[in-house]
This record gives sequence, structure tokens and C-alpha cells, in this order.
Amino acid sequence: MSVVVLISGRGSNMQALLEAGIPVSAVISNIAGAAGLAVAARRGVATGVVEHRRFATREAFDAALAAEIDRHAPRLVALAGFLRVLTPAFVAHYAGRLVNIHPSLLPEFPGLDTHGRALAAGVKRHGCTVHFVTAELDHGPIIAQASVPVLPGDTPATLAARVLQQEHQLYPRAIRWFLDDELVIEGDKVRVKGNHAQMVASDRA
Ligand code: GRF
Repeated sequence: MSVVVLISGRGSNMQALLEAGIPVSAVISNIAGAAGLAVAARRGVATGVVEHRRFATREAFDAALAAEIDRHAPRLVALAGFLRVLTPAFVAHYAGRLVNIHPSLLPEFPGLDTHGRALAAGVKRHGCTVHFVTAELDHGPIIAQASVPVLPGDTPATLAARVLQQEHQLYPRAIRWFLDDELVIEGDKVRVKGNHAQMVASDRA
């Protein structure tokens, strides 16, 4: 039933999962000093570090990372601000049980600096996406999205903060659906059984 969470930084999404009662068996980072590791440890969650810089190739790093993850035999692996591009072999190993949260309304703005790019494009709504991970970066079947308004005077930082609030609600909800066997994958599309909203529109500034 457990989830392993991969982080590279502050880990606020990981913390939101813990606070929502998601059964997290370990938090693993590619950065030894990632702030989120201390947050997890304080809550009694096992932590691990697999430093990418110690490996000569992506393949070697991903193999070591997978070995560390698999010690916990997780049902699901959740990327939460994990800033590494994963190899096709890694993604294949966790096919159907690897998810990510991305700070844009995919397929708009894959990659980095999503908030700055959303402002530059002049979009009126922005948001976040939880999706299954496939070999192509920030693609993969979309499980759930949340949108927020873009307001006059927004900076990348103010917009990021508004989106992050939604991330902290959306990710636990989507992971709970997975753990409760409520997700139905039909080709490239994901449906949730029952009457759950897969798109949440927040109008709160
Ligand atoms: C979040 O915005 C997440 O969507 C993105 O990276 C950021 C991580 O933040 N993938 P945190 O480490 O969860 O606080």
C-alpha cells in the first residue's frame, strides 16, 4: 500500500502528502542536503540519498535509485520536485505506478520556468497537473488538474505561490485515487471511477 516519494528540494508537496495521511514508506533524494529530507525524518519517515553526481552515467544513477526504491517495495513512486530526467529503462520498470506533479496545465508549458513562461504568454489561467510518467518529459496520461486565475501584476513568484496551494490539495487527492484503485487507464486517458472532479478550478486569488 505504500508510496515512495522522490524529492530534490524543499519538499512541500511531499509534506502535503504526509499531512494528508498518504502512507509514505520512504522519501529519497538525489541531493544530500535537500530540505525536505529533514522534514520527512522529523515525522519519522525513512529517508535515503542517492547522489546523481556520484554516478558516471544516467543509467548507472537510475539503476542505483531503483535499487534504493525497491527496498521499500512500493505500490507507487511519486515524483515531487525531483529534478532529474529519468531514463526509459527506469520509467519502464515503474510503468503504471510512477506519477509526477508538474506546475502547469499540461500539455502547456512542459519543462522548467513554467510560471514565467505562462506570464510571458499572457494566459489568463494557469495551474498544475498530476500525470503518469512516460519516457517523454512532462507527458503521460493526465490524472488530475487544478487551475487558478492569472492576475494583473502577477510575478512568477506570486503565480507560483497560488499554483502551489492547489498542488498541495491536488496531489494527495490523485494519489489517494490510485491507492484506492479508482483510476481507470484507457489508452492515453485516465478516468476516475465515481463522481470525482478531475479538474478543479479555483477562483481564489
Ligand atoms: C513544485 O512546483 C512541483 O510542481 C514541481 O517542483 C516544485 C516542487 O516544490 N515539480 P516542492 O519541493 O514540492 O516544495
